[in-house]
Amino acid sequence: MHSSSAKDPYFIAKLSSEVTFAGNFIEKECAKCHTPKATIEAKIEKKEVIILSNGFLSESNEFHRFAISGISCTLCHQIKRNGISGNYSVDLNYRKPERAIYGPFIPLYGIEMYRSSGYFPTRSENFLKADFCSSCHVVYTPTIENGSVISYFPEQTTFFEWHNSVYNPEKPCQSCHMKKERFKISTKPGNLFERNAKHHHFSGANSQILSILGKNEGAKRAEEVLKSSAKIRIKSLNINENELEIVVEIENKAGHKFPTGFPSRRAIVHLVVEDEGGIVFESGKILGDGRVVGEDYPERHYELIDSEDEVQIYESVMMSRDGRVTFDLLKAYRYFKDNRILPKGFSFLSAHPDTLPVGVEDDNFSPGSDKITYLVKKSFKKPIKVKVELLYQPISFFFVESLRETKEGVEFRELIKKTDLTTLVDSDETIIQ
Ligand code: HEC
Ligand code: HEC
Ligand code: HEC
Ligand code: HEC
Repeated sequence: MHSSSAKDPYFIAKLSSEVTFAGNFIEKECAKCHTPKATIEAKIEKKEVIILSNGFLSESNEFHRFAISGISCTLCHQIKRNGISGNYSVDLNYRKPERAIYGPFIPLYGIEMYRSSGYFPTRSENFLKADFCSSCHVVYTPTIENGSVISYFPEQTTFFEWHNSVYNPEKPCQSCHMKKERFKISTKPGNLFERNAKHHHFSGANSQILSILGKNEGAKRAEEVLKSSAKIRIKSLNINENELEIVVEIENKAGHKFPTGFPSRRAIVHLVVEDEGGIVFESGKILGDGRVVGEDYPERHYELIDSEDEVQIYESVMMSRDGRVTFDLLKAYRYFKDNRILPKGFSFLSAHPDTLPVGVEDDNFSPGSDKITYLVKKSFKKPIKVKVELLYQPISFFFVESLRETKEGVEFRELIKKTDLTTLVDSDETIIQ
């Protein structure tokens, strides 16, 4: 996804949609993280930072080649100081290519690298820390009203969520998102030895966009990461005449909230109770276009579900200053709902205020897990089969619907018509004899 941060058709569609009401000036905001190299180069040359129209994405733009390489090797490896929300810094005092290039190792054959690329390899502890990722994985987007910025909204807080979890500091982002292996990090010089190095796949949960981009290996890796992220289990079953009580538990195994990141991500719990005569009770059935049966957006958080039109959906829902639900990043002022499952070790006392759950009144919504009780008041004939599934959608139906009718928006909607936007994370089932 890093190499595709500018080519990503979802990013382009969303950007074009936001620009229609917020104005072109907000493009430089998105450019900080999605087209970082072009942004830095354009600033050095005192040129306009703009992505759409005749901007970076247009082949005739002088910064096009920098833009389409996305978050590339030389961008990350020149980050000298971290910041949050795109406020990292790169050393501009030296003229390229005579610049330092940072990495986790003490350089042994640094002169080889300098001879062939002009960069001086330089050690930086920074690369082994989660703070390195916080530069872009904490996102505050401006809230725009009538063309001016009225406040900033915590659109993504992945690093803050991790910071307040059991994974801090022993398991930084790199330990889960970059696989460790022993290999030679360069083909030159020939006598270079192997080291404990890290693969650079940065797999997340978004297999759909990688498939659309034709990156099938990447999509497979993303699906594997997603399947390792959470577990769903039927914890207990209680049956008496005309009533079945089922307790379901979802455990978050990721290093931050599940789901985390971009606000269109969500997870849905699908439960089906069947007896001889067929389906007796079903909550959370997904339709072909990604809509969920029984969902009244935004569906509230549940501790107890006793009706088929109630469904548990773990998600963040944004609202504008006037209290209306919104899908526009630049109208978002506060969260209306945020019941995404907390990471293990999350402490309410030390939590960054922008990571606290919203709209959750539930005693067993705890760090690392959540429990839901289903109460089915119907008559059954044994045997009864109970099945639960945890499903993930990187882009909810509503985010697709809310894209404005721009050229890029229409193209994107056409593109994802053939894509299944729902992935199975985990499932469990039991039969009551
Ligand atoms: C998103 C930021 C990012 C990008 C993009 C990136 N790197 Fe890295 N790179 C890192 C981090 C972080 C480490 C340290 C990982 C660790 O050891 O925990 C690293 C480590 C390395 C190392 C040391 C050996 C290893 O694999 O651990 C080399 C060599 C390297 N990167 C080269 C590259 C090259 C070449 C590219 C482009 C193909 C690239 N990097 C792109 C962040 C990045
Ligand atoms: C210069 C900014 C920047 C830095 C630094 C950075 N990222 Fe990212 N990262 C992004 C952007 C932007 C995307 C989304 C690209 C897209 O979807 O279009 C992304 C995507 C990802 C994804 C894939 C998400 C998905 O949709 O599946 C993972 C995983 C990830 N980053 C992990 C990391 C880790 C771990 C680090 C630190 C070692 C890191 N990133 C450092 C900007 C950055
Ligand atoms: C304990 C392992 C673990 C650690 C530590 C961890 N992650 Fe993740 N990460 C996961 C798993 C599993 C997923 C997939 C589930 C999800 O989306 O929440 C994921 C998903 C993501 C995504 C993709 C979300 C999407 O929309 O596709 C991003 C971005 C990300 N992580 C960034 C980070 C950053 C930044 C850090 C450090 C601050 C970090 N992760 C630490 C395991 C981890
Ligand atoms: C501070 C860095 C930063 C800024 C600024 C930023 N983004 Fe992102 N964006 C990210 C990261 C990191 C991700 C990946 C998170 C994830 O996968 O869940 C991302 C993901 C996205 C995605 C989802 C892509 C996908 O394939 O699912 C869209 C759409 C998007 N950004 C649009 C925008 C727009 C529009 C703007 C400007 C208003 C913007 N972003 C500004 C860091 C940033």
